[in-house]
Amino acid sequence: TEFVTANELANMMDVQVNQIIASCMSLGLFVSINQRLDAETIALVAEEFGYKVEFVSVDLAESISEYEDTPEDLKDRPAIVTVMGHVDHGKTSLLDYIRKSDVTAGEAGGITQHIGAYGVKLDSGKKITFLDTPGHEAFTAMRARGAQVTDIAIIIIAANDNVMPQTIEAINHASAAGVPIVFAISKIDVPGANPDKVRESLANMNYLVEDWGGKYQCQEVSAKHGTNVKQLLEKVLLEAEMLELKANPVKPAVGSVIESTLDKGRGFVATLLVQAGTLKVGDLILAGSYYGHVKAMFNERNQKIEEAGPSDPVLILGLNGAPQAGEKFNVMESEKETKDIATKRLQLQREQGMRAQKHITLDEIGRRI
Ligand code: GTP
Ligand code: MG
Repeated sequence: TEFVTANELANMMDVQVNQIIASCMSLGLFVSINQRLDAETIALVAEEFGYKVEFVSVDLAESISEYEDTPEDLKDRPAIVTVMGHVDHGKTSLLDYIRKSDVTAGEAGGITQHIGAYGVKLDSGKKITFLDTPGHEAFTAMRARGAQVTDIAIIIIAANDNVMPQTIEAINHASAAGVPIVFAISKIDVPGANPDKVRESLANMNYLVEDWGGKYQCQEVSAKHGTNVKQLLEKVLLEAEMLELKANPVKPAVGSVIESTLDKGRGFVATLLVQAGTLKVGDLILAGSYYGHVKAMFNERNQKIEEAGPSDPVLILGLNGAPQAGEKFNVMESEKETKDIATKRLQLQREQGMRAQKHITLDEIGRRI
């Protein structure tokens, strides 16, 4: 198991990261700033700076009952999709267009609130859940906490521009996470747009698109006029079908925190993505180091709902704090155990924050799940 990076360890002990690197070197290890260190190395390095390391593990497995899903329990669930790409290449415009053309949004009279994720129902009746966050940062923040939320990434590249640094970063993120990519070549309505230039750049990076005989799905779109957006979504659905995404809807819910804030009138408000099971009003949930009974639950159209199943994004009220994006949530049975775990996690956070203290506590669980 690897715990913290050289840089994080330096911060905990309030020393320069160069000193950590030098110390590792004296142990015969060549590490970089963001490299995670194993327990033994951390202990040895810390000792050199006069710290004693204590490894604490908060064992969730003991308190959270494990549900063994049988194949019959598993039902199809909508794909969870993130749009990523370079600044100004049209992420928001594409999501806006998709949201506006969403048939369910039409039925319900439009979107009345922004939440970090929303589900859309296509003409075919199929559903897709979009993570509507600055895709890139959310993806990175979530991955840093080990949360794998996205099933498919749409990488958007403007045809009047080209593959740019953040495009490459997004591609690398998705690839590293093993998330299938669908390319959207956007802004094709702009005079001088050259989609083939984009295809060529991708080919040069070994991402040969389907229309050029490669394996990557690719769709030219204009978010401004909505051109080919339907085709893009069909390609996303095709990708989703191949993934055979399934989850057990009949068990206590588990999932991830998408975002959370303190709202003046309503208290702590969190957007959660249910990944398995069904979340119900009244459920006791533990999210990171916070907990509470779900007081009320809303969908992306601000409608009160009683329950939410796999791949459903929901806004909930009732937590006693604001957990960070990417943190896992679980529905719990025992109030006492929930408080115990939450308290332990809070304590670990606090100890990690106390840099002057000659003592480091590494939160094993936070790094593993
Ligand atoms: P950041 O969130 O800042 O990274 O940008 P973004 O990727 O969300 O891009 P956004 O959707 O905000 O689009 C940037 C600009 O391009 C805006 O002025 C959009 O109106 C414009 N734009 C986006 N898509 C299209 C398109 O398909 N055609 C045309 N003509 N303009 C577009
Ligand atoms: Mg944007």
